[in-house]
Amino acid sequence: MYAQMVKSEATQEDPEMLAAFQARIDAGEKIEPKDWMPAGYRKTLIRQIGQHAHSEIVGQLPEGNWITRAPTLERKAILLAKVQDEAGHGLYLYCAAETLGVTRDEMTEMLLDGRMKYSSIFNYPTLTWADMGAVGWLVDGAAIMNQVPLQRTSFGPYSRAMIRVCKEESFHQRQGYAVMMKMAQGTPAQKAMAQNALNRLWFPSLMMFGPSDADSTHSVQSMAWKIKMNTNDELRQKFVDQTVPQAEYLGLTVPDETLNWNAEKGGYDFAEPDWDEFFEVITGNGPCNTERLAARNKAWDDGKWVRDGLLAHAQKRKMRKVAAE
Ligand SMILES: [Fe+2]
Ligand SMILES: [Fe+2]
Repeated sequence: MYAQMVKSEATQEDPEMLAAFQARIDAGEKIEPKDWMPAGYRKTLIRQIGQHAHSEIVGQLPEGNWITRAPTLERKAILLAKVQDEAGHGLYLYCAAETLGVTRDEMTEMLLDGRMKYSSIFNYPTLTWADMGAVGWLVDGAAIMNQVPLQRTSFGPYSRAMIRVCKEESFHQRQGYAVMMKMAQGTPAQKAMAQNALNRLWFPSLMMFGPSDADSTHSVQSMAWKIKMNTNDELRQKFVDQTVPQAEYLGLTVPDETLNWNAEKGGYDFAEPDWDEFFEVITGNGPCNTERLAARNKAWDDGKWVRDGLLAHAQKRKMRKVAAE
């Protein structure tokens, strides 16, 4: 359905409509689902919002892993609320993508058979309780860096979803940092655990912004359409500049010997993540890719009876209504 739609729209595109569309974006107007839009804009947004939704849903898995083992009832309640928020983010985003003419089922199937991706970070394992701190602090922190500018994105439903999501993300980041503070001020063993979590998650967090802009082919068009508001490198720099003082405050060391304040540029110089590792992970060879997709496939298969039941019920009601008319 969605492939047909994108194709039929592409044949109607004329330069005048494209120019008028760009003028609306340049004037800061929001594009709404029923407005005309270029097929490429629709396609890019479906990919981006869909990928974002999948990341929220798959992102529940590494943290869900620790709900039953949280050290106190309070920590358990907080983590549970945080993971539930991520489910909510996934749902808003699937709804926003659905307004573009793709169904949630289609997107889910594309995730499950590997046609659609989710953020590479969720293919790393969460090995200790300190990872719950580091994930909230670094992963949600990087997510906020990406998402705050997207509140101003040109597509109305995406922009509105981001406003709500960002409010919740800042709670996530703070709860993660609170866990890190507790661990960093704890026993030497707890502090070592916090340092170890930072060591493992630092570079994967930097990868969340994507490869350098010089290697990113979609960037120019996406920025003109205001689907992407900043370059990957800009956001990565901002993240490093914000996070390094936070690590210092914790008394932890960022695992990058080249890290150095550069007064001239007003930001840190830092080492690039290992991009070979990044491409390995996004092509399916990260430490947990198989496990994550297996968990999502199982959830989809286990939920089949619910979907079938709801559809049968809706069908019955429809038939009764037709018979009564
Ligand atoms: Fe989220
Ligand atoms: Fe979050």
